[in-house]
Amino acid sequence: MCASPFALKLRQNRRRLLVRLIITISLLIPLYLLLTFFLPRPTTLTKTPLLALNFPDPCIIQDMASGTWYAFATGSWTPNTSTDTTASDTTTTPPTTTYKHIQAASAAHPTGPWTYLPSADPLPTPGPWTAGPGSQTWSPSLTQLTTNTTPTNPTTTTTTPTNTNTNTTYILYYSAQLPPPHTHIHCIGAATSPTSILGPYTPLPEPILCPLPLGGAIDPSAFRDPADGRRYLLYKVDGNALGGGGECNNGVAPFRRTPIVLQEVDGADGVGLVGGGVEVLDRVGEVDGALVEAPELVWVSGGDGGGGDKGGRYVLFYSNHCWDGPGYSVNYAVSEENITGPYKRAEGPLIRTGDAFNVTAPGGAVSVPGGGWMLFHGNCPEGRCLFGAEMKVVGSTVTVS
Ligand SMILES: *[C@@H]1O[C@H](CO)[C@@H](O)[C@H](O)[C@H]1NC(C)=O
Ligand SMILES: *[C@@H]1O[C@H](CO)[C@@H](O)[C@H](O)[C@H]1NC(C)=O
Ligand SMILES: *[C@@H]1O[C@H](CO)[C@@H](O)[C@H](O)[C@H]1NC(C)=O
Ligand SMILES: *[C@@H]1O[C@H](CO)[C@@H](O)[C@H](O)[C@H]1NC(C)=O
Repeated sequence: MCASPFALKLRQNRRRLLVRLIITISLLIPLYLLLTFFLPRPTTLTKTPLLALNFPDPCIIQDMASGTWYAFATGSWTPNTSTDTTASDTTTTPPTTTYKHIQAASAAHPTGPWTYLPSADPLPTPGPWTAGPGSQTWSPSLTQLTTNTTPTNPTTTTTTPTNTNTNTTYILYYSAQLPPPHTHIHCIGAATSPTSILGPYTPLPEPILCPLPLGGAIDPSAFRDPADGRRYLLYKVDGNALGGGGECNNGVAPFRRTPIVLQEVDGADGVGLVGGGVEVLDRVGEVDGALVEAPELVWVSGGDGGGGDKGGRYVLFYSNHCWDGPGYSVNYAVSEENITGPYKRAEGPLIRTGDAFNVTAPGGAVSVPGGGWMLFHGNCPEGRCLFGAEMKVVGSTVTVS
């Protein structure tokens, strides 16, 4: 059968279409493969709590004496257990709960499993400068001071490490509510325990940091600089305590300052202040909302891919927005070389509501020394539960998974 010109044109059109289709497909396949290989795949990083109970503002430390890891947290009413024998506040204790000014948990490894210690009550009394038993005691931080006493006979030194010549003192920093007429203000105190990391800690008679006209101070965080062994305390000036209302009492003008301050402390006793504090970060209203708070400093070595002249960098974690809303998030800023800064903020939060972790209002992040693992809190049916995340630092960029 003869092909009519129309049929020929149709066939040519079909062939052209077919060629186009083949070219398109042959182009699309490698593109698809390229994209699926390089683009981030939908991740399921959903976190479940390490401790499914109210355990806010954690700190983390490894006890040098035992090697066990401890996490302490803000005070809370906790269910009675058979091992509970004392109450810190019997007059206002509801029948089935006991108030603990500071809570404790332990683990053989930072990643867990974490065990809540129901009978531990590290800070039975918050100190004479506070509102007393039942005072709002927040955001503990722990450090260990060691004094190596000279061995009487150096020849008896063995290869197995012993604690006989090491005098360890544990120091617990915390913020607590002032007595009337300043009950809206919190300041930072310290308490010591000579032999046991779980205490009981004896509070110092006076707060160690209490800038009353600025709104007080909260969120103490101990840091020992591995570069030179000097000791520091970071904290937040609690300006929003004097704010005019709104989000975390600092949502309307005139806005109060809530800077994060780096304060050197005496390396011998951990509580004497050395020089003045240095502001290392401050609230930027449009970015941070009502405040910045919950500082945590970690020194991370290397990260330049080797061969560089940099020994490491300081990573400052902090939370912004109000703890009771979904805007609360984990953020960080990095200072190259110098502990006093300048700290350059990373773009956007590291952990936030609605990300792959699926944790609402994450904040209060703390790290093991040198990085690698962090603890933080986030909303849960029990209050604010303990969560954990693996953390990597490459160059000045932190990633979590
Ligand atoms: C809970 O413990 C406190 C003190 O430890 C005690 O006073 C209280 O009676 C206890 N409640 C119950 C229901 O056991
Ligand atoms: C250990 O340190 C504490 C606190 O500084 C001190 O009271 C105690 O006497 C020291 N003990 C020894 C054996 O040095
Ligand atoms: C860090 O910066 C401070 C303030 O600018 C300066 O006094 C200090 O010498 C610096 N330290 C180092 C180790 O560079
Ligand atoms: C995220 O968390 C909510 C509440 O905790 C839960 O209902 C939901 O199933 C979670 N989503 C995923 C993807 O795990």
